[in-house]
Amino acid sequence: MFKRSKFLWVLLAGALLVSLLVGCSDTQTDSSGSDDDSSGEVSDNGSNSDTIDVGIILPTRDEPRWVQDEQRFRDAIADSNYTTEILFSQGSSANELQNVETLISRGIDVLIMSPHDGDAAGAAAKAASLEGIKVISYDRLITNTDAVDYYVTFDSFAVGEAQGQYLIDQTDGEGVPLYLYAGASSDNNAFLFFDGAWSVLQPKIADGTFVIANSSAAEGLKDKNELSRDELGQILNQVTTNWDPNEAINKAQTHLTSAGEELKGDVRVLAPNDGTARSIADTFSADSDITNYVITGQDAEKASIQYIIDGKQSMTVFKDVRRLVEDAMGLAITILDGNTPETTGAYDNGSIDVAALQSEVITVDQLNVQAELIDSGYYEASEFTGLE
Ligand code: BGC
Repeated sequence: MFKRSKFLWVLLAGALLVSLLVGCSDTQTDSSGSDDDSSGEVSDNGSNSDTIDVGIILPTRDEPRWVQDEQRFRDAIADSNYTTEILFSQGSSANELQNVETLISRGIDVLIMSPHDGDAAGAAAKAASLEGIKVISYDRLITNTDAVDYYVTFDSFAVGEAQGQYLIDQTDGEGVPLYLYAGASSDNNAFLFFDGAWSVLQPKIADGTFVIANSSAAEGLKDKNELSRDELGQILNQVTTNWDPNEAINKAQTHLTSAGEELKGDVRVLAPNDGTARSIADTFSADSDITNYVITGQDAEKASIQYIIDGKQSMTVFKDVRRLVEDAMGLAITILDGNTPETTGAYDNGSIDVAALQSEVITVDQLNVQAELIDSGYYEASEFTGLE
């Protein structure tokens, strides 16, 4: 359940989607809500009486990850014939539902939504679906409902694998303390990330390379490579950050306070994303008994790229949001044009298999940050200090 199912990945028509996007040109696009930090309401920019073709709902502006997505959507739709509106739910399922209702009243035909809480978002997706609106789940899967038509996503299991493998590659010897952290259990991705990391870390825990420092649930399951959803949930319950950097600091402080000397020194830290990685890294570097740490991340947030350049965060998993946006808008435009989108696989959301498009991810550390993020044009060198 909730995992990739029936994936027969074929090298897809990324190019086709690009050409669909490029083919749409020239009309004004409305995307508001950007100046309003406090709510997910449609901001009044004088265009509220206009109808909207595509509604886009993102979980929160408080995390740079989703502000990246907003910017990439704006870049992608700048020349589109279709009108769009981008709204934020600010970490609230109630806001999310209200946003969907607002967009329904604005006449959208396609809803692209990244849910705050996968299960809770089912009601919002249903409300849209009942109006004949096609629902595209974006990055995070809307779970336990049949009201999702498509899913565009990164390979989230591979994100976790990349994180776990990085820790393994940076470790010699045995008995190395391993601190585990995870995302919010309301987010299906948090399970996929942890599952992917566990798939590679578990053999190295079982053979004594790593010693789990902060989860009795993980310790109890250390001989099992494939965990059920319930078992993953037991570990997540202990080590969740809820995607909140402050909660991550509190957890890390508690763990370090209760850890004995044998769990200090040169340690490894599985941090689920960049926002939590930076705050966990700061907490670990403030502990004088920690002599060295290797810590993971994901999202290639600018602040974490600077941390990587400065040697304060070890790696990030780069998920090229331009590609995800391209896939989502490509699907939306195909639907608006009255055609049936091509997909490359399916994800079981607990109720149905949702037709999906999936993108690959890239491990980035000091060695390839220049090539992957600067030379590729994703960021400007001038946005960082200390790049060679
Ligand atoms: C996304 C990550 C993000 C996290 C917290 C996940 O669903 O895939 O990129 O860091 O949510 O917002």
